[in-house]
Formats: sequence, C-alpha cells, structure tokens
Amino acid sequence: MSSAKTTILVTGGAGYIGSHTVLALKQAGYEVIVLDNLVYGHQDLVEQVLQVELIVGDISDRSLLDNLFQTRNIAAVMHFSAYAYVGESVKEPAKYYRNNVVATLNLLEAMQAAGINKFVFSSTCATYGIPEMVPIPENHPQNPINPYGATKLMVERILSDFDVAYGLKSVRFRYFNAAGADPQGRLGEHHNPETHLIPLVLLTALGQRESISIFGTDYDTHDGTCIRDYIHVTDLADAHVLGLEYLLKGGNSEVFNLGNGQGFSVKEVIETAKQVTGRQIKVIECDRRPGDPPILIGSAKKATQFLGWQPQYYSLQDIIKHAWQWHQKRHQ
Ligand SMILES: NC(=O)c1ccc[n+]([C@@H]2O[C@H](COP(=O)([O-])OP(=O)(O)OC[C@H]3O[C@@H](n4cnc5c(N)ncnc54)[C@H](O)[C@@H]3O)[C@@H](O)[C@H]2O)c1
Repeated sequence: MSSAKTTILVTGGAGYIGSHTVLALKQAGYEVIVLDNLVYGHQDLVEQVLQVELIVGDISDRSLLDNLFQTRNIAAVMHFSAYAYVGESVKEPAKYYRNNVVATLNLLEAMQAAGINKFVFSSTCATYGIPEMVPIPENHPQNPINPYGATKLMVERILSDFDVAYGLKSVRFRYFNAAGADPQGRLGEHHNPETHLIPLVLLTALGQRESISIFGTDYDTHDGTCIRDYIHVTDLADAHVLGLEYLLKGGNSEVFNLGNGQGFSVKEVIETAKQVTGRQIKVIECDRRPGDPPILIGSAKKATQFLGWQPQYYSLQDIIKHAWQWHQKRHQ
C-alpha cells in the first residue's frame, strides 16, 4: 500500500474515466479531492459511491485553485476534465479551445504558482489523426483532424514547455476507446449525450434507443466496418495509479498510449453485445462518416514495459459484460 496520506486532486473526477480512477486511487491508499463543475459529472457517484470530497467548481476559476492549493497539501494533479465530443468540437471550436486549452493553462499556472509539479494528463489517440501505421506507437506523427484532438495536442505541447521552463513533470496518457465499467458494478459510463459505440449498442438492447447505426460497411477491413481499440476503464484507471506513482518517485515526463492492442470491428461489437445481453439489437447500415479512419489500434507496449502495467480485461466479452451490468442496474 502506497503513501496513505498523499493527497491527489482529480479534476473531472465525477466523470466516466475520472470516477473509475478515483476508485483505484482510494484502493491504493490515496486521499482524493475531486474538482468538477458537474457539467457532465455525477455528484451522487462521488459522494455516495466513491465517498470522497467533491469541490463543485471550474478549473478556470483561478482564485478557487489558489485557495485550494494554499490550504491543502496536494502532491499531484490528475487532469480528466475536458469537453470530449469530436463532432461538437468541429461546430463549436471556441468552446473546446477555451475549456480544454485555456482552462488547463489556468490550472497549470496555478499549480506552478503553488509549487506543485506533478501532473497526469488525459490525452487521446485523436492527436494522431489518420494513422500511417497500426498499431500506432507513441512516436507516430501527431496530426489531429479535428479541434478536439488539436486541443489535446496543444496541452501536450504546453506540458513539454512547462517541463523545460518550470520543471513540471507530467505523464501524458493517450487513450484509445475507453469502455466497460467497474467489474463490481459500482460505477460505469453515463455520458449525456452518449456518442460511444458500446453504450449506444447496450442502450439499444435495453430498448432505450430504436436502433444502432453502422457508419460504413465498405471499409477495407475483414467485415467492412471500422475497427477500434477498446480499453477497459478499470485497466485505464490502474495505469493512472502507476503513472502517478512513477511521478511521485521522481520520474521524468513521459507519454504512453493506453490501449488494448487489439481491434474489434463495429459488427463484432454488436454481435458480442447480442451474445452478452441475449437481446435483439436493431442495426441500420449507413454511409461512411467523413474523417473516420478504417482502423485505429494502439500499441501500449511502452506502458506495459515501462510502468509494469498489466491490463486484466482484454476480452470484448468482459468489457461488454461489465458495461451491461452497469446499464441494466441504472435502468432497472
Ligand atoms: N472516453 C474516452 O474514450 C476518452 C478517450 C480519450 C481521451 N479521453 C479524455 O479523458 C478525459 C475524461 O473523459 P470521460 O469520458 O471521463 O469524460 P466525462 O465527460 O465523463 O468527464 C469529464 C468531467 O470533467 C468535468 N468538467 C468538464 N469541464 C470542466 C471544467 N472546466 N472544470 C471542472 N470540471 C469540468 C465534467 O463535468 C465531467 O465530469 C477527457 O479529458 C477526455 O478528453 C476520453
């Protein structure tokens, strides 16, 4: 058990990946403070399920941050808060640059002023853009094709520059598709609006949606549908604890992909969901969407070798089973 009294600030800890990471941090013996403006987060999950301190506030509020950093002995910040809807980022880029870049800069400046120099950042495979090779390694060129990916790349750049100038040490995790739910059913994915494939398929199985659309069935893949890398959210959470511990031990700034290393097609996800749920799922085949690469798979070898990360839930069955448990519980 590591450093029982070390306090970690988790921004966006009331959201999907943040809440699962708070659970992992608690289990590893850390004291956690969640800062979330609840635009998308869930207060009940933080207060009733996770039972950690929740500060309802915005990372763009400098006086709130200064006060927090002055009054609490915070060793590191894990930064999950952001807007993450790719389509919306194309329509409303200013909203994304303001929340994901400007507000993050505000947080980093407040940390710098308070002498806090350890930071774990939620970046994304969307920073790579259209892949030149798969599995995608960390040194793949980063050419995001939408404002959301661009905002995350900008923060990555800010983090490199803050390291050189101010000694801020960061771990940047580039996630592929986060999926699944806490295997014990305590937490799960609850985005509103929901845009991710697995919850959409399961909401269709539950009768909350009429049908699920497949965008493109003529890609150059084994069944013609897009292939994505789904990584179990509990495995992501465990990687964050390892990344944090690496920084607390004095590690230098690093970047890691977090993915499953395997891809599953849209049709495979739907078929597996039919098996797991035992329900009919109505499918509508549609044209391709612009900007969807046929295959996105990440290589997470670096995180495995460097951090000793051992994902436990590789199988699509497990990922969908855990998500299904959560969705059933939420809609019963
Ligand atoms: N879900 C994925 O598959 C995925 C993939 C790659 C990267 N990411 C990144 O991981 C992070 C977490 O994603 P998620 O799926 O858990 O999203 P989420 O929307 O569930 O969680 C984000 C949380 O941040 C909060 N928030 C947003 N802006 C804030 C602000 N200015 N101040 C305080 N709180 C704020 C929201 O209320 C929400 O609780 C995001 O940074 C996202 O870009 C997610």
